Amino acid sequence: MLVIQSLSKAYASGKQVFPVLKNVNVSIHEKDFVMIMGESGSGKSTFLNCISTLDRPTSGQVLFKNEDITKATNQRIQRFRNHDVSFVFQENIMIDTLTMIENVMMASLEHSIDVRTRAHELMVSMRVDHVSDKFPTQVSTGERQRCAIARALMNKPAILFADEPTAALNPQFAKEVMDIFTSLNAQGQTIVMVTHSLKIASYGNRFLLLQDGTFSVDECLSGTQKEKQARLLELAKDIL
Ligand SMILES: Nc1ncnc2c1ncn2[C@@H]1O[C@H](COP(=O)(O)OP(=O)(O)OP(=O)(O)O)[C@@H](O)[C@H]1O
Ligand SMILES: [Mg+2]
Repeated sequence: MLVIQSLSKAYASGKQVFPVLKNVNVSIHEKDFVMIMGESGSGKSTFLNCISTLDRPTSGQVLFKNEDITKATNQRIQRFRNHDVSFVFQENIMIDTLTMIENVMMASLEHSIDVRTRAHELMVSMRVDHVSDKFPTQVSTGERQRCAIARALMNKPAILFADEPTAALNPQFAKEVMDIFTSLNAQGQTIVMVTHSLKIASYGNRFLLLQDGTFSVDECLSGTQKEKQARLLELAKDIL
């Protein structure tokens, strides 16, 4: 679904160049639930941003359904962002003067009566329909995050990118969000997520470890969550 070839990204500061990603080669497949871990500053967000058009790599290719999106026109990139991918972050910007359901509806590209129906259905499935008419300042962080996920799903993205979506949540809210991601993935949603937590990573079905600018581990995960956690503990021991 997403083929990443020889991807490099360096940041320049004055005359100095700091390489962050070095010749990364990896493919994301349909129905993958990828968990990316790595030390702080290792380039996890940079990687996510480069493969999702939020940032441009210094070199390399990102093929989405055989089209190199790093070479796409701004118009094509806009369409890709609107139709093909979606994002959930640690903090998600909401418009404070709109209700939660209006914030969810905002993501839609259509203007029809169906938009409210779809927003409502998504909020029901995220169990936040009870806050539909509240404003962002009136809901809990967990409810806000689940609304952000509902918003991210409005346009039925092929790939859902999530950069530490549970980092600001307490363990109970984090578990609720991960249960939602698990059920979305079981329904076929491809998810690429970054986390700092082994426990959270054990919800995924594939694990990537970013070290020294490239993936030192790329392994499928299976078994119970306990078994996956035990395996992750071995795989990620360098960064713990
Ligand atoms: N816009 C930028 N300009 C210059 N350097 C940057 C920029 N964005 C990130 N960096 C640097 O690139 C490196 C990787 O940053 P990145 O945010 O991708 O790390 P990360 O793995 O997501 O870290 P964290 O776990 O703390 O979120 C860091 O050293 C960071 O300082
Ligand atoms: Mg980051």
